[in-house]
Amino acid sequence: MHRDFIYLDNAATSWPKPESVGEAMVDFLRTKGGNPGRGGHHLARQAARTIEAARSRIGELINAPQSMRVVLTQGCTDSINLAIHGVVRAALKCCPPDFKIHVVTSAIEHNAVLRTLHCFASDGLLDLVIVPCDHQGLMDPQAIADACNERTVLVTVSHASNVLGTIQPVGQVSRAIRERSPDVLFMVDAAQTGGHIAIDVQRDDIDLLTIAGHKGLRGPTGTGALYVSERAFPESCTNPRLFCERRGGTGSIAPGLEMPTHLPDALEAGTPNAVGFAGLLAAMDASCESIHEHEMSLTAQILEGLKTIPGVMIYGKPTIENRMPVVLFNIKGLCAREVGAILDTEHHIAARGGVHCAPELHNAIGTCTDGGVRVSPGTATTPEQIGRFLSAVRIIAESSNER
Ligand code: ALA
Repeated sequence: MHRDFIYLDNAATSWPKPESVGEAMVDFLRTKGGNPGRGGHHLARQAARTIEAARSRIGELINAPQSMRVVLTQGCTDSINLAIHGVVRAALKCCPPDFKIHVVTSAIEHNAVLRTLHCFASDGLLDLVIVPCDHQGLMDPQAIADACNERTVLVTVSHASNVLGTIQPVGQVSRAIRERSPDVLFMVDAAQTGGHIAIDVQRDDIDLLTIAGHKGLRGPTGTGALYVSERAFPESCTNPRLFCERRGGTGSIAPGLEMPTHLPDALEAGTPNAVGFAGLLAAMDASCESIHEHEMSLTAQILEGLKTIPGVMIYGKPTIENRMPVVLFNIKGLCAREVGAILDTEHHIAARGGVHCAPELHNAIGTCTDGGVRVSPGTATTPEQIGRFLSAVRIIAESSNER
């Protein structure tokens, strides 16, 4: 790695991870590496303790009423697939044959949501409404509620755009939906916000919350979680509104060929990524509130600096209010991939150039062909590095003007 390397792609995955993450993973492999919940020997018990500690820490972070409502997954996309497939399959199983289920989502969504829903919509199994957002990537809570009807089973929105960083008013969306459709399931994709900003599933009456372990939480890839509310999966196990198609061993006592009916086992099959969750647990122990403040101050520096460079176009909100540490820009006359490649090869700066897996949002802001250059500072980024990044953008923009 170049000694002046600058990493500005924390929205894709945070880097570097706290030292304690790797240490905890090595320690897990060396001293605790049994199969959690399988077998009663001491290594299996230690692995189970690690898994349950991670579950409980995630539960505390989002104010889950019980930690068993936190299902551990392989990442946010995995959580989203588990939730959407689960809700759609449960609705299809219990609805009359002529009932067409209806799902509402927004234009800021990531492909993890859009492609998963599209798969059912293109098979004619559900009607999908994608509610537009404004040019700053902000959705209107009332428009989301107004899109619901008596057939709506699920409303799913992102907590923040991965492209523009715009934070959505999920509490207002929840209240607007509940007034109109009290029973609909409300899902929030917290891929970009988990570990960065406060999330309270009880206050905001969220039924399904999906989290990535490797972004704001700074854990390893291959870790994530899905929170499931009482409305979505009653403790009594009567009529769960999430039907899991995954089948396999859970370690819990469940005679016969049916899966256990209690959480989290009903939605967790097979050996979990215990070493990954050992790392995630260490990452969560290493986190503190000042990290987000630091990242937002760097974001303000990026925004202010880019505004002074001729030929640079910034997308989304012009300030750091209600946004995550993410900035999208383009340089006149250059395509975003080219700028990303020049930043990488000539300036040793890692940024993401191109389209960012959110096609409806790129349409809304006019960047559907080439996308944009996304920069996302992290814990280890310094103001001095942002200064060097801004100088690099100025050089690239000047050379583009000279062409
Ligand atoms: N979803 C990740 C991103 O926005 C990978 O870059």
